[in-house]
Amino acid sequence: METENKYIKDVDRLVPRPDIALEVLQMAYDNQVSIPAMANKIEMDPNLTANMLRLANSAYFGHMREITSIKDIIIRLGLETVKIIAITGASAGLMRSPQQAYNLEPGTLWHHSHATAVLSSVIAKYAKAEEPGAVYTASLLHDIGKVILNRPLQIAFSNNKNLGRKFNSLIELEQFLLQTDHARVGMALLQKWGLPDNITIPVGFHHRQNCPEAEQLNVKIVSLSNFLVESIGIRSVLPENFTFNVQDFIDQNQQLPDVPNFQENMERIIDEFFYQFNETAKLSN
Ligand SMILES: [Fe+2]
Ligand SMILES: [Fe+2]
Repeated sequence: METENKYIKDVDRLVPRPDIALEVLQMAYDNQVSIPAMANKIEMDPNLTANMLRLANSAYFGHMREITSIKDIIIRLGLETVKIIAITGASAGLMRSPQQAYNLEPGTLWHHSHATAVLSSVIAKYAKAEEPGAVYTASLLHDIGKVILNRPLQIAFSNNKNLGRKFNSLIELEQFLLQTDHARVGMALLQKWGLPDNITIPVGFHHRQNCPEAEQLNVKIVSLSNFLVESIGIRSVLPENFTFNVQDFIDQNQQLPDVPNFQENMERIIDEFFYQFNETAKLSN
């Protein structure tokens, strides 16, 4: 972890720590939590409050009567949903900036992360995953290491103008230039923030294969939806007439991580994902 720690040492200057959202997450995991105390905590952050209200009123959460206060969100949508809305509201702010070293324009990393999280939650539902909230959060934050490594990678590129070799993957390139990669650095950051293993491990291993961690269901779901979102090529809101051919995709990708009930339900999973992604993408733009 020494290399990773070097990169996250000054992280507080680079990535604003989502303190309030993290405290809200911790409160939501606590069975004894008091709803007024939690609402007060959220309301200390006006941006988070506004984002949470917008998300809660989206068709995705399906409520007819308008939700007008944070207390309403907690009472009407329940703690599991509050966790999801709080971390989504906080992540949008962390990931909107451009990541030039990765060729990501403003907003692109956020759309990719958000799409991966929405798809993961649909896959997790079909797979009957025990911790859907953790899968969602891990997916949302899986590439947060890119925010940390953007600058070091830019510097490394300018110091090594002629790399003189080809790389098979982004991870290989990062390892060559920085002796670590965005998945590992992301895991180190989330560990520093005190998030639990069922979130940090899927982040750290989303590009790994052939290791015991890669066999965990949460890790498989995050890798699979990251791969799928990349293959579909989602960079922002989907165009109206977008189509995706499930059979072609399966024919071309025989080596997908095996997640229970995925392949046989893929068509329905993709449909549900498209619907939910479009509903929430508009709101968090
Ligand atoms: Fe990644
Ligand atoms: Fe990714």
